[in-house]
Amino acid sequence: MTKQLLLGQTLGFSGNPLIGDWNDAVQFDSAGAVLIEGKQISAVGSAAALRAAHLDAKVTDYGDALISAGFVDAHMHYPQTGIIASWGKQLIDWLNTYTFPEEARFSDPKYATEVAERTLDLALDHGTTTLTSFCTIHPASVDAFFGAAADRDMAVIAGKTCMDRNAPDKLQDTAQSAYDDSKALLEKWHGKGRASYAITPRFSPTSTPEQLAALGALWSEHPDCLMQTHLSEQLPEIAWVRDLFPDSRDYLDTYEAFGLLGAKGLYGHAIHLEQREIDRLNEVGAAVVHCPTSNTFIGSGLFDLMGLAKTGLSIGLATDTGGGSSFSMLRTMAAAYEIGQLRGTALHPAQLMWLATEGSAKSLHMSGQIGHLGAGAMADITVLDLGSTPAISQRSGRAADIWDALFPTIMMGDDRAIKDVWIAGQKRRA
Ligand code: GUN
Ligand code: ZN
Repeated sequence: MTKQLLLGQTLGFSGNPLIGDWNDAVQFDSAGAVLIEGKQISAVGSAAALRAAHLDAKVTDYGDALISAGFVDAHMHYPQTGIIASWGKQLIDWLNTYTFPEEARFSDPKYATEVAERTLDLALDHGTTTLTSFCTIHPASVDAFFGAAADRDMAVIAGKTCMDRNAPDKLQDTAQSAYDDSKALLEKWHGKGRASYAITPRFSPTSTPEQLAALGALWSEHPDCLMQTHLSEQLPEIAWVRDLFPDSRDYLDTYEAFGLLGAKGLYGHAIHLEQREIDRLNEVGAAVVHCPTSNTFIGSGLFDLMGLAKTGLSIGLATDTGGGSSFSMLRTMAAAYEIGQLRGTALHPAQLMWLATEGSAKSLHMSGQIGHLGAGAMADITVLDLGSTPAISQRSGRAADIWDALFPTIMMGDDRAIKDVWIAGQKRRA
């Protein structure tokens, strides 16, 4: 088996820095090393010790660059890559004006493949090694995404987006076809290589109760799959849900009533939650996903990260492209920091890096496999240049410690900060 030894500054985590003293959760070494054997990380330790113990390893010396687990994006829409940064609309208008016409183009499998490949390459350029994506209603859009990810040996989570009302006719399926197509795709892709299938009702306004029930039934037949959807993103959306589901106690109840609330549920946004919803999400061990650039771009609101983290709720971090305005998890961390500031909490760089790696992996129930710089994890690794532009280097050059050196890259970094990416033990070819 080939042995690779990466030298540099290393940052990993042994616990959750959002809870208790963040310091206790950090594993940092300014002269560290990561040993890769085959597709996995087999050791993380000091450069001196690992070098001496593995003289046969091929060495890549990254100097004072920072070696981290690859970033994990816990919620995005690869079919919206082409409409990122579209001007002037809030959620429902934005969906109707920009999103649905673009998603209709994915009836063409060739176009789907082209955008899937472009999206995965953009993600890798930005240091993101796992994407969790909505596809479109077209089964071929799911094949395109999983196929392109397999070509790159990337761990991805995705599913056919299901909608049988309140969307253009050509973007609608039915309760039965959503069930049948999702089941066939799940059986084809779930657990194949690094692919995981997520049952994917878009959100309750675009699914009839019959479709939600059909997908709830499918989930009960495949409880090892994730289920991803949207929850309480914007106030007019919540009012619309109340009209569409007059018998429901709240937004979460529109999922709960149809078997779509569970430990492996992944609820994007979750900004305007009621106490009952927070309690129920916690009781079942579900996860919510924070999408900060989207929340400011679409004008949705300020996610209560620290308030929810303190309840013990599992929280992932995500770009939500193309509602989100960046492919970069660095920019996403910066936006999470800014929203935290507006809510009165300055998130520490350690907390931001944890969210973008371990936190997202935990929300996906993949802790220890991805988003983790430690023995036994897949060797999906991102190496950060902490002085990638003149603006950043003039600031990081005077840093007092690693956090002071890293924070300018979190706030101002982009794809230029990504020095290298490793996927399953292979250095990504430029
Ligand atoms: N809610 C339902 N669909 C979407 C979507 O595509 N993007 C965002 N941000 N919210 C949604
Ligand atoms: Zn979304």
